[in-house]
Amino acid sequence: MTLTPDAMGRALPRIEGGQKVAGTARYAFEHPVVGPLYLHPVQSTIARGRVTAIDTSTAEALDGVVAVLTHENAPRLADTSDAEFAVLQDDTVAFRGQYVAAVLAERSETAREAAELVEVTYDQQDHHVELDEDSPDLYAPDVVNPSFETDETVGDPEAALESAPVTVRQTYTTAMTHNNPMEPHTTVATWDAEDGRLTLFESTQGVSAVRTAVAGVLGLETGSVDVISPHVGGGFGSKGTPHANTVLAALAARAVPGRPVKYALTRQQMFDLVGYRTPTIQHVTLGAEADGRLTAIVHDVVEQTARFKEFAEQTAVYSRSMYATQNRRTSHRLVPLDVGVPSWMRAPGEAPGSFAAEVAMDELAVATGIDPVELRIRNEPAVSPASGLPFSSRHLVDCLRRGADRFAWRLRDPRPRARLVDGWWIGTGVAASSYPTNSMPGSSAVIRFHVDPSLDPALGAAGRYEVEIAAADIGTGARTVLTQIAADALGVRPETVHVAIGDTALPPATTAGGSSGTASWGATIADAADRFRDKWGDDPSDGAQADGSMPDNPYSGRYAMSAYGAHFAEVAVHADTGEVRVPRMLGVFAAGRILNPDTARSQLLGGMTMGLSMALHEESVLDPRSGHVINHDLANYHVTAHADVGVMEAEWIDEEDPYVNPMGCKGIGEIGIVGAAAAIANAAHHATGVRMRSVPMTLDDFVV
Ligand code: MOS
Repeated sequence: MTLTPDAMGRALPRIEGGQKVAGTARYAFEHPVVGPLYLHPVQSTIARGRVTAIDTSTAEALDGVVAVLTHENAPRLADTSDAEFAVLQDDTVAFRGQYVAAVLAERSETAREAAELVEVTYDQQDHHVELDEDSPDLYAPDVVNPSFETDETVGDPEAALESAPVTVRQTYTTAMTHNNPMEPHTTVATWDAEDGRLTLFESTQGVSAVRTAVAGVLGLETGSVDVISPHVGGGFGSKGTPHANTVLAALAARAVPGRPVKYALTRQQMFDLVGYRTPTIQHVTLGAEADGRLTAIVHDVVEQTARFKEFAEQTAVYSRSMYATQNRRTSHRLVPLDVGVPSWMRAPGEAPGSFAAEVAMDELAVATGIDPVELRIRNEPAVSPASGLPFSSRHLVDCLRRGADRFAWRLRDPRPRARLVDGWWIGTGVAASSYPTNSMPGSSAVIRFHVDPSLDPALGAAGRYEVEIAAADIGTGARTVLTQIAADALGVRPETVHVAIGDTALPPATTAGGSSGTASWGATIADAADRFRDKWGDDPSDGAQADGSMPDNPYSGRYAMSAYGAHFAEVAVHADTGEVRVPRMLGVFAAGRILNPDTARSQLLGGMTMGLSMALHEESVLDPRSGHVINHDLANYHVTAHADVGVMEAEWIDEEDPYVNPMGCKGIGEIGIVGAAAAIANAAHHATGVRMRSVPMTLDDFVV
């Protein structure tokens, strides 16, 4: 089935926009509960060792403290196989900042004060927290996130490099960075001991995943856990899987039946407990003919994981599908460290991987004297280099050409350090971008029709359509876009459709992750609408209802499916101080049908802004002596702010793709960040002649 667009493609205003502006949209912490207790944790001050004693007596004596949980008295969990979830279950300390106790008090201030009064004694052991590619502990994981091959070799890359007329061999690094959505991770947990039910108001990218995980860890029936999350104040991956904070809140609620427990992470705790992007060390070697045609790509990555739980970022995967070559090697090695476990952060793999790959392409452009836009066009593959499958659609070349046109690229002087204006070196750079078009199996939806005589007859329907699916709108516009999809699938006006999301009382849905939400939930809703119309026609009676589920895509395995883009950036570097500014960024994308131009532009600009942030600002600084991220607040960990952004534009080409899903859309949540930092680094080189192989780049990097 392919949907005919009517509502799809329109700039329908964000449905909950008014509520958000008025402050009536409820976020997790704001749900009213009766008689809540506030949780404040005690976190380990060592990176590795054991807790040998905990004295909670002073804390417990504080007026308003109801309980202090430690590994000695906390309720036992049913399943501790996921070490990240095994909070307060034993005396081991695996990383600095780990939960070692939790205070429950009548007021949040009291809980915080009492947490300071808990005295923890440790048996401290030596720790290793620095990523070192010569570490003897280096190992190859079985797969990289989520299930890609760790290593891959095609052809004979070493021989090809040996005979290549031109080679580029360089090392690139990216910093450790932390997710900082405006709304921190938050849980309001209530345990109803009588009915054996746990209710969580949660800030999450997927209520169904939280329900499954928490039920398993606590040993409850899945149906005994309710997770409610109507609005989420941003999620860049850290809310894509539950973390220890949610388990701690749930565990605490079980310890105090009848008293809801409220736990919002402080900004500083956000740097300890909910994942981060691993730092990477990337060795890239390109071999090419004199005309720029690639003969070999080698992309070897070293990155970190936690010793207590593995997470393997798929950093080199980008290089498997981007450019044509007969010879290729990609590999991933992990160093296990005494640190918190890395996790998802917007475009895991693609974001750091594209930085190295796309700066290396710029270096090849310089080495061969070929324009960097033309170099990429020359290396455009006919079929997917990763799978050998034809592309469902791939319009990278169109993105490059259109961006070059819009950026007046033909007027660019290719020589670096050629333009000095009012004391600023000015340059421009380009990088390509790609993100896979993911769909996830497992969602369901229900559609109900209710006759509504009060409905405006001009809307052409006798009543309203209620669409239910436990999807998530983390600020992306998913609620709005799903309404548009439902309207087109039902053949009705969007004003007659109400989409309910963010609640496990609704049919289960997959997580907002891997830019898969709209494609997966949309196809599920389209399936339900199909069944609804089969059963009831287009003039349904009151109470008409139909269920649907995520259909298999008959074209998966037959086509390679990805979105593509091209970033263009202008960078100014101050000749005396090295201050870096980015006056202009343009992203041109090919991402299938754009379902809502307003929310799509916002997503793409958000991704590009995060790419700017990656290029110039974000870096978690770990003190090797303590294992502690020392710049753990938004004063010291700078996230690109409004004043850092110049003219930034995102646009797209019209792309029709009949294979990806019934809507013809590709995910757009992550592609905006992919390649953006590389375009800025390449522009910085063009401006100054100084090659930036490490991000974030700072003014001292330009002092030569
Ligand atoms: Mo996104 S990092 O796939 O939640």
